Amino acid sequence: MRRPIIAGNWKMYKTLSESLELVENLKLSCSSVSDRDIVVCPPFMALAVVAQAIKKSVLKLGAQNLHWEKEGAFTGEVSAKMLADVGCAFVIIGHSERRQYFGETDDTVNKRTKAALAAGLTPIVCVGETLSEREANRAFEVIERQMKNGLANLSVEESQKIVIAYEPVWAIGTGKTASPEQAEEVHRFIREKFSALYGASAAAGLRILYGGSVKPDNVKSLMAQGDIDGALVGGASLKADDFAKIVKY
Ligand code: 13P
Repeated sequence: MRRPIIAGNWKMYKTLSESLELVENLKLSCSSVSDRDIVVCPPFMALAVVAQAIKKSVLKLGAQNLHWEKEGAFTGEVSAKMLADVGCAFVIIGHSERRQYFGETDDTVNKRTKAALAAGLTPIVCVGETLSEREANRAFEVIERQMKNGLANLSVEESQKIVIAYEPVWAIGTGKTASPEQAEEVHRFIREKFSALYGASAAAGLRILYGGSVKPDNVKSLMAQGDIDGALVGGASLKADDFAKIVKY
C-alpha cells in the first residue's frame, strides 16, 4: 500500500507573516490526519520560519528547487545540504515553470535529483507534456524522455526514494484538470516505464502525484484512480481551507 502525499507548491507567493498564518491554520485543520504525508513547499525565504512553526505537527517541509553542487561560487543558488539543514524532507525538481522560464533541462533535473538523494531529501520530480505535445500525440514520448534522462543512472536503492509528479502543462493554473481517466492513463504509463528502468518492485512502491488544477471538488475522483498516489497542488494550496479539504479528500 503506497502512502498518499498531498503537497502544496506555493510558488512565488506568501511573505513570512502570510506563510505563518497559512501553516498555523493548516496545523489546526490537519492535526488528526495521520495516514498520508502532508507537505508544504514555501519559497526559500520562508523555509526557516515555517520549519520552526511546523515542528511537532503532521506537516512536512519541502523546497521548490535546489542546486546540484555541494557549495561554491553560485550566486543566488541554494544547495541540498542547506535544505536538509533547514528542515526540508522533500524538494520539487524540474517543475514545468522552471523548464519553461529558467532553462531547466532533463540533464539538470538529473543532477538536481542525484544531489537531493545524496543529501537525504526526497525528490519530487515533475514530468508532463505541453498542450501542443498532447495535440501532436507526443505526450507519452515526451514523458518517457523526461523520465529516462531526468532519472538516469540512479541505483535501485535511490530509485525507491523518488516521487514523480505528473503535471500536464496545459492543466497548470488554467482551471483545466486532466480527467481522472486521462491522468490515470499517464500514471499507469509512468509506472510501466519506471518498472522497465528500475524493476517491478521499485515501480510498485513508486508514488506518482498528479498536479494541475487540483481542487477540493475534483481531488476525490483523481485519488480514486489506482495509479494516482497523491496531488501536487498550486493555487488551491495557498488557502488553508481549500488545501485542508484536499488533504482530507
Ligand atoms: P495549479 O494547482 O495552480 O494548477 O498548479 C499546479 C502546479 O503547478 C503544482 O506544482
